[in-house]
Amino acid sequence: KCISLIGAPTDVGASVRGAGMGPDALRVAGVAEALRGHGYDVIDRGNLAGPPNPWQQPQQGLRHLPEVVAWNRAVFEAVATSLALDQVPLLMGGDHCLAIGSISAVARQCRQERKNLRVVWLDAHTDVNTAAISPSGNMHGMPVSCLLGHGPEDLVGWSGERAAIVADALDFIGIRSVDADEKLAIRQLGLQVFDMRHIDEHGMRNTMTEVLQDVDEDTHIHVSFDLDCLDPLDAPGVGTGVRGGPTYREMQLCMEMIADTGRLGSLDVVEINPALDVRNRTAELAVEFIQSLFGASTLAR
Ligand code: ARG
Ligand code: MN
Ligand code: MN
Ligand code: MN
Repeated sequence: KCISLIGAPTDVGASVRGAGMGPDALRVAGVAEALRGHGYDVIDRGNLAGPPNPWQQPQQGLRHLPEVVAWNRAVFEAVATSLALDQVPLLMGGDHCLAIGSISAVARQCRQERKNLRVVWLDAHTDVNTAAISPSGNMHGMPVSCLLGHGPEDLVGWSGERAAIVADALDFIGIRSVDADEKLAIRQLGLQVFDMRHIDEHGMRNTMTEVLQDVDEDTHIHVSFDLDCLDPLDAPGVGTGVRGGPTYREMQLCMEMIADTGRLGSLDVVEINPALDVRNRTAELAVEFIQSLFGASTLAR
């Protein structure tokens, strides 16, 4: 399989600037070389183009909606193209609003190929806000609602259905920050949230066994990896860090267990903010986890 790297240098979905430098931080950390070292063909498609960050206040509860739409359209096209070529798209963000375009393209492809899509959302946050309930208006806190069909008209339906994914197809891991009204949305939508307490009590192994239990040969796994899932002590280069994340070892196991299924089909790596980082530590950590996700193992060759 060939992995295609797609850079989307955005921070339009956030209020903290800097995630737009994420794609180059990953390149500098050697993402392409690391994957090639594990035997993959890697094509770096460079960075997509899109509008600059106007740095405005939210309007009707949404910050930078036109810019978020434009960037996601570019991401949708690039991810769809890569999937049509039977490649594994690795979207390098940018902020997490980009998951709208990325996962909409993956969902459309899965529908065409009659594959079961499973999305594993690694994050400190559930990102299931809407314009009506978001405390910030930041659209990186809303991609999940858009993907479930509850977003502004310009951001829903790209996959061919109003809802790109159903709640059942989505599992959240590492959650420890949920806004007041998001809690209600999680219950109403029936989302499966493996929060940090669940991981504390059951361990990462049991958690991932549960998440991956119904994965079969017709399953396409999409991982949406927000680097703020990790503890900010390990990954300081993020705009919305929350203490108390999974440990390095827990996250490695999570990645390895996904790799073991052999069903990883696409990946987002988002929210790396080099402006807040310490000597590119967060991008380097991301590259370590990406390698595990693509099957690197301590003992197996
Ligand atoms: N829940 C907060 C908000 O909606 C933070 C969201 C952070 N999202 C992210 N992808 N980092 O504003
Ligand atoms: Mn997050
Ligand atoms: Mn499940
Ligand atoms: Mn996120």
